[in-house]
Amino acid sequence: MDKLPFSFFLFLVCCYSHFASAQCYNALFNFGDSLSDTGNVVLAGLPYGMTYFGHHTGRCSDGRLIIDFIGKSLIPPLLPLSLLSDASLFVRLHVAEGIGLPHLPPNTASNASFHSGANFAFIAAPALSFDFFHRRGLSQGLHVNASLHEQIDRFQKLLPSICGSPQGLSTGAIFRPANSLLDSCRIPLAECRDFLSKSLLVIGEFGGNDYNTGLFGGWSITKVSSFVPHVTRAVAEGIERLIGLGAVDLIVPSVLPVGCFPLYLTLYQSSDPTEYGRRTGCLRRFNALSWYHNAALRRQLDRFRKKYPAVSIRYADFYAQLFDFVINPLKYGDNIEYEAHEI
Ligand SMILES: *[C@@H]1O[C@H](CO)[C@@H](O)[C@H](O)[C@H]1NC(C)=O
Ligand SMILES: *[C@@H]1O[C@H](CO)[C@@H](O)[C@H](O)[C@H]1NC(C)=O
Repeated sequence: MDKLPFSFFLFLVCCYSHFASAQCYNALFNFGDSLSDTGNVVLAGLPYGMTYFGHHTGRCSDGRLIIDFIGKSLIPPLLPLSLLSDASLFVRLHVAEGIGLPHLPPNTASNASFHSGANFAFIAAPALSFDFFHRRGLSQGLHVNASLHEQIDRFQKLLPSICGSPQGLSTGAIFRPANSLLDSCRIPLAECRDFLSKSLLVIGEFGGNDYNTGLFGGWSITKVSSFVPHVTRAVAEGIERLIGLGAVDLIVPSVLPVGCFPLYLTLYQSSDPTEYGRRTGCLRRFNALSWYHNAALRRQLDRFRKKYPAVSIRYADFYAQLFDFVINPLKYGDNIEYEAHEI
């Protein structure tokens, strides 16, 4: 109980904001890979972070990541995330810059307080387990054991210390899937369900590293496409685990158009002009893989919206946003300000 007042206070602060219809959050939890790792994998010696933070931070960026902007925008003053449409997510988050909270601590940070959130993302993290790749002779291409489910395992271990009672800690809190929740009304579970019902959870993107592990292991793109149902199922199972713990507000980003990445354009360059998109110059086969993944993910999210009508599941279309960077780079120049409705 001694843990409640602080988060409750933050919750009240944001509820008193003038955005009457805005969603209020007491905490932000993130699961992901290099797109959102804020320091779990510290690549010692790399200079990333120097420009914004003044020292290296372990981010795969010299500045902040999307999740930093989401975290800063949450509390206080509140950015009404619930009012964002999928497509305007990026732009609105940039509008939110400069407001709010300290940056989301990586979950491996010693001494950090996780009462307003934690970040479980690891650079190079896949959705699928070590075993999936090991069975296919690809596990030497994995750089970390931090799949989505391992990240959720860490989250579950951390939860009782954030929202459980001392009794729950000493007896070991029990968390079960959604359908067995009613018969497991242990105190820490109920407290954490209440806490999570006021938290925002971001799951992903996941998938990029799963496909990379196959592709960089020498597999053809056709063979790697067979991973898609496995990857999206792993993401779906992760989402259900989090809903089972009490999450009611989730953002699930898409994978990116990797065919536009300089790495892919270099590794898989082709003399056949039909391999490239006419407007983008991106490698079409690789973007098609991302499309295939995102279509499967969206279908799954639609199924969850029907299955869990009380849960808000927002698809964040990173694909479309990055695609727009490629097609309209001048729109995103330093000195140009954009209104959300222009995208
Ligand atoms: C951890 O927190 C305590 C109390 O706030 C502080 O005295 C100590 O210096 C911190 N340790 C590190 C490694 O930051
Ligand atoms: C991941 O775990 C497996 C065993 O489950 C181990 O063989 C492998 O070396 C680990 N990989 C890393 C990068 O730690």
